[in-house]
Amino acid sequence: MGGKNKATILVIDDEHGIRQSFKMVLKDDFNVLLAETGAKAIDVFTKNSVDLILLDILLPDTNGLDLLKKLKQIDPNTEVIMVTAVKEIQTAVTAIKLGAYEYVIKPFVVDDVINTINRALEKNSLVREVTYLRKELERYHPFEQIIGEHEEMKGIFELVSTISDSEGAILIQGESGTGKELVARAIHNLSPRKNHPFVVINCAAIPGTLMESELFGHSKGAFTGAIQTTVGKLEIANHGTVFLDDIDTLDTSMQAKLLRVIQEKEFERLGTTKVIRIDVRFVAASNQELKDLIENGDFREDLFYRLNVFPVNLPPLRRRRTDISILLEHFLDLYAKNTGKPAKRFSKKAIKVLVAYDWPGNVRELQNLVERSFTITKGNMIHLKDVSMFNIGRRTSKEAPLKEAVSSFERDYIRELLESVDGNRKKAAELLGIHRNTLLSKMNELGLK
Ligand SMILES: Nc1ncnc2c1ncn2[C@@H]1O[C@H](COP(=O)(O)OP(=O)(O)OP(=O)(O)O)[C@@H](O)[C@H]1O
Ligand SMILES: [Mg+2]
Repeated sequence: MGGKNKATILVIDDEHGIRQSFKMVLKDDFNVLLAETGAKAIDVFTKNSVDLILLDILLPDTNGLDLLKKLKQIDPNTEVIMVTAVKEIQTAVTAIKLGAYEYVIKPFVVDDVINTINRALEKNSLVREVTYLRKELERYHPFEQIIGEHEEMKGIFELVSTISDSEGAILIQGESGTGKELVARAIHNLSPRKNHPFVVINCAAIPGTLMESELFGHSKGAFTGAIQTTVGKLEIANHGTVFLDDIDTLDTSMQAKLLRVIQEKEFERLGTTKVIRIDVRFVAASNQELKDLIENGDFREDLFYRLNVFPVNLPPLRRRRTDISILLEHFLDLYAKNTGKPAKRFSKKAIKVLVAYDWPGNVRELQNLVERSFTITKGNMIHLKDVSMFNIGRRTSKEAPLKEAVSSFERDYIRELLESVDGNRKKAAELLGIHRNTLLSKMNELGLK
């Protein structure tokens, strides 16, 4: 019988002729159910999955509006289209206020009815999709993506959970690649603002002159080149979170303007005088110590205190080395999953070297390294030689003879390994799995001090 993918429509009308004509018109494209009274309608509706209802306003046993309310109580997601005579239009309008989607007037034009039905079903599927996505978002675990078992990271997770609920500004400081943006997003997703926008303002990427219009927006003609009115990022972020990334790069005049917005929660679009009030939470990030910049006169102290209500300081990876192998594994799993390729592992020796390495680029550098190694390694074991961190053959042209290429690789490799262990030869030899004397003669041979 009725195709599984067809939407199901329930027609509620006391006139046999009307029910049959709806059935005729609709049966090719929809599964059609019929009910002649309110009682029958409730019965059919509770026993079937119905996508849309065509409801006659005048029924013998009940008032169409009362029935509409009952149906909406049973399932508010089912769209209802009222069927009405001209003299009942006022009631139809009331029905819309009660949640009906639309009304059609008898005698109806078939195409109009079908169009209205299709629009209602389309809206309905969008609403369902949004509801679904909202649920998904709630299920999404903000900390699932942030890996860290080191005590310092645990402390940060706790701090972030606590401050997400409040309104004060947050200043996240930490070296490049330590996860500042990741933490900022987690804060937003844990906050009561999570269903509103998270807007990133990249202070380093936007030239000073454009920054003002980026933040505040402008009216048409506010300056040369302002060919149309543009809404600023602050307005877009209303009720959500504004992430001021690389705040240390903001010039001092913008710092003053930003300070005013944070204090007053209001501003004007460029070229207008109308005051726009906003409700946003500010989270800022910097990979430089703002305190140092203040001393040099490069950062306003008052802005610093405004932002630094809740400080979050992310430790560099080398200060939590126990997290390195966990992160390596995490990203290996991630790339295997994303590419659909079989899982790969680092060899013990590779892990040893990587744990000893200092990671100036922190988690980002580590993530990139895992991606490269995962991609270039054929088998399921990634050996030290597959780890391209040490820029294999950086100074080697393609034509260089093999011996020269190998020496060049060894030279770079050993030099960087030594740097990563602060020149400690004993440790370097251990990591390489060779005797200390062998390392010394190797260094001699390669011209390394
Ligand atoms: N603890 C972590 N667990 C998992 N992934 C992480 C972690 N920290 C950072 N990352 C990942 O490392 C990359 C860099 O992180 P992010 O962009 O948040 O760093 P950042 O501190 O903003 O760096 P920058 O100052 O250079 O902008 C991202 O891909 C992020 O997902
Ligand atoms: Mg960043």
